Amino acid sequence: MAKTQLPTQPGAVKTGGARRKPTTRLGKAQETSFSAVDWVDERTSLSGGMRWLMFRKIPKGTNWFYTLGSATLFAFMSQAVTGVFLAMYYDPSAINAYESTRFLTNEVFLGEFVRGMHRWGSSVMVILIFLHMARVFFFGAYKYPRELNWCIGVILLVLTMAMSFTGYLLPFDQRSYWATIVGVNINGTAPLMGPFLSDFLRGGAEFGATTLSRFYAIHMLLIPGLLGALIGAHLYMVARLGTTAPPWMKAEVSPELREERV
Ligand code: HEM
Repeated sequence: MAKTQLPTQPGAVKTGGARRKPTTRLGKAQETSFSAVDWVDERTSLSGGMRWLMFRKIPKGTNWFYTLGSATLFAFMSQAVTGVFLAMYYDPSAINAYESTRFLTNEVFLGEFVRGMHRWGSSVMVILIFLHMARVFFFGAYKYPRELNWCIGVILLVLTMAMSFTGYLLPFDQRSYWATIVGVNINGTAPLMGPFLSDFLRGGAEFGATTLSRFYAIHMLLIPGLLGALIGAHLYMVARLGTTAPPWMKAEVSPELREERV
């Protein structure tokens, strides 16, 4: 019996059976990208890992609150991208920092827009991380076996706050200068570690040029590196352990099953 022919888009690449040569530009582009992906996958087997990470079973009752983690991740990535563009113009020296920020804002094409995205994006990321944490807390998703992921999350929260603190000084205007002095002094009042921490942040006993370059290095190298690595660990744990069902779904477990679990 003759096989039914499925309608295909003109020029589309046939994925099963004998391959027909694509005729249109789109078809040719598709085939090139398929073969490039195949070429990489044949050598790395990365597709298996991607499938494991992306195609997971999710519990019944999952809702919009579960998107807050991904929204935080998106905010982080947006900060990373806009930060790279800002770093192309910013000069972390005490003499030029303010002027380079002013130039970036007023003279550079789309400078004000990118700076605004980075500035407002930092607040958005802080708000989202707290909302995500609240979702995890109120849904009881911090309990066994996800305690370690909660702890990683707490470190992510501290690092995100440190990111905001170190970034605030960089424009080096009056407000950022004095606010950071206050912040460093507050750090100094912490028990035991406080004085060491404020000395470390200042880069000595005095607040000055070293402080600015130190804050810049911490803001654009140290913390983003740690955040990237820890977000990787966080997502690995999410993929490995799966997401927790909402608490009201657990309540719907039948009495027999509940007895079995006990
Ligand atoms: C940079 C910051 C963060 C990013 C990018 C991030 C990302 C994510 C993503 C994408 C998920 C899976 C989807 C979801 O449940 O929303 C998740 C789950 C989770 N996150 Fe975060 N997260 C961050 C911060 C935090 C913080 C601050 C905590 C708590 C202190 C936390 C604790 C958890 C836990 C326990 C889960 C598992 C939830 C479950 O099993 O239902 N995360 N995170």
